[in-house]
Amino acid sequence: MAKKDAETADSPESSKEEKFDEFSDIKDLPGVGSTIASKLKGAGYEDVVSLATANPMDIIELCEIGEPTAKKIISAAQEAANMNFISGLEFEEKRKSVQRISTGSNALDILLGGGVESQSITECYGEFGSGKSQIAFQLAVNVQLPKEKGGLEGHAIWIDTEGTFRAARIEQLAKVRGIDPKEALQNIKVGRAYSSEHQKALVDKIPGLINNDPKIKLIVVDSMMALYRAEYVGRGTLADRQQKINVILHNLQRFADRFNIAVYMTNQVMARPDVMFGDPTVAVGGHIIGHVATYRLYLRKGKKGLRVAKLVDSPSLPEGEATFQISADGITDAEEEGTTKKTK
Ligand code: GTP
Ligand code: MG
Repeated sequence: MAKKDAETADSPESSKEEKFDEFSDIKDLPGVGSTIASKLKGAGYEDVVSLATANPMDIIELCEIGEPTAKKIISAAQEAANMNFISGLEFEEKRKSVQRISTGSNALDILLGGGVESQSITECYGEFGSGKSQIAFQLAVNVQLPKEKGGLEGHAIWIDTEGTFRAARIEQLAKVRGIDPKEALQNIKVGRAYSSEHQKALVDKIPGLINNDPKIKLIVVDSMMALYRAEYVGRGTLADRQQKINVILHNLQRFADRFNIAVYMTNQVMARPDVMFGDPTVAVGGHIIGHVATYRLYLRKGKKGLRVAKLVDSPSLPEGEATFQISADGITDAEEEGTTKKTK
């Protein structure tokens, strides 16, 4: 039975000035309230963005509300999520606020258009020991540097899904860059994820962390897929897994946009049996990360301890490769071959 719209209309105390955003609780949106919110949440509309993209017909039945209320709720969610048009000028302004964090290697920075970029997700994939985590350690230290040294005087969030975060490595890299090692550690919030659900829960906590510490300028996820890959083996529910990953990725992209921060995530590779020529490795997770990540770096081990990063599928930069090295001092240009070259 559909309830009358009047019952779900704005309560008198909800003032016109009240400002909602994509991180507001959906129960606070005009027309929602706690009863409807719990029905919506129960059906998976957990946040403002998922509600903003809902179909009115789906929520009419679910919440036993009339069509005008359903439409009103959805448009309030769209308004809050800022999912309406912006002018090209506003778009350009937003682009201008992009900031970059140096990787430590000039060659790698050039390949990425000046370093790891805010408002974007940078995915780094490659075989074990190729340096994915080492770049993450370096970024978590470098983000703390002053701007003239390639940093943002910022702090970092680190989601560790493989238990490979090493405080000692941060301290070592901080010392090399002239940052107090304990302070460097203090400025990194580490969340160890023990399951994919836990990983999602940690990601959901990010806006709260940023509200408490607006200096956060970098989110590391090392690695994005490990837990999903382990948990969904043989479950035959790939679509379910992909959908869950999609939600996390889109949330991370929203945080990147909204708070002008950089997201750096690592990813494993697997062998593709169908590739007979060339490199048979491919990033885990299918196309899903590729569609969301703005920058995809493929790392491989080169000669004499060097590493080669290849920029794959970038929207605005030419494909190319950069050579760098990893040592006790961290990521630096390769002594002889710190070069960036275009491959296309
Ligand atoms: P997986 O997480 O196993 O998939 O690999 P990864 O790509 O994250 O590798 P990681 O970034 O941990 O790279 C480790 C490699 O960095 C080591 O195998 C070394 O070759 C190299 N490395 C060189 N110098 C150092 C150093 O001083 N400390 C560390 N930890 N690694 C170094
Ligand atoms: Mg690693």
